[in-house]
Amino acid sequence: MAGRCLRIAAVYFVIAIVLGIVMGITKAFAYASVHAHLNLVGWVSLAIIGLIYRAYPQAAETTMAKWHFWLHNLCLPVMQGCLFLMLFTQIESFVVGAIIGSLGLGVGIVLFACNLWKHVSD
Ligand code: HEM
Ligand code: HEM
Repeated sequence: MAGRCLRIAAVYFVIAIVLGIVMGITKAFAYASVHAHLNLVGWVSLAIIGLIYRAYPQAAETTMAKWHFWLHNLCLPVMQGCLFLMLFTQIESFVVGAIIGSLGLGVGIVLFACNLWKHVSD
């Protein structure tokens, strides 16, 4: 699980950086939130989570860790993909996808927190 989180985090990093560079060149600053969340929730958070699982392997292979992993990596792309499409197409109804994605991501993060409380000791 640790290696999987780190490898996927690196993919978010590349996508977020490409978006940041394109935003900078084209002055399309409206997409800053997509860039910020792909960087911070995709790259930074997932990389930290991967390192936590390496430090505490007893937390890495639990059912809660698996649920968190899938909710995080299905819902973050849905959330930020829909936000991107909403900004790109100006079609407001994409916000529904962003809301659903953010709720799923939130549930995943609560599971991650519960997992750490249950399986990481002093
Ligand atoms: C080649 C690397 C990067 C480029 C070209 C880039 C470019 C940009 C641009 C153009 C903006 C919009 C600025 C604005 O709205 O005034 C932005 C915002 C932001 N970037 Fe990056 N970025 C890069 C790397 C990163 C990294 C590595 C992170 C975090 C780990 C990051 C986090 C953020 C955040 C949080 C914002 C939003 C700031 C705000 O709302 O005030 N960026 N970036
Ligand atoms: C379900 C999870 C999350 C939701 C629904 C969410 C939602 C939002 C919203 C609505 C904004 C304002 C966007 C704007 O002004 O255009 C925002 C900004 C921001 N969020 Fe989040 N957020 C989430 C998780 C996170 C996490 C985990 C981090 C950091 C690790 C983070 C970092 C930021 C930053 C740095 C900004 C300001 C940058 C910008 O968007 O211009 N967010 N977030």
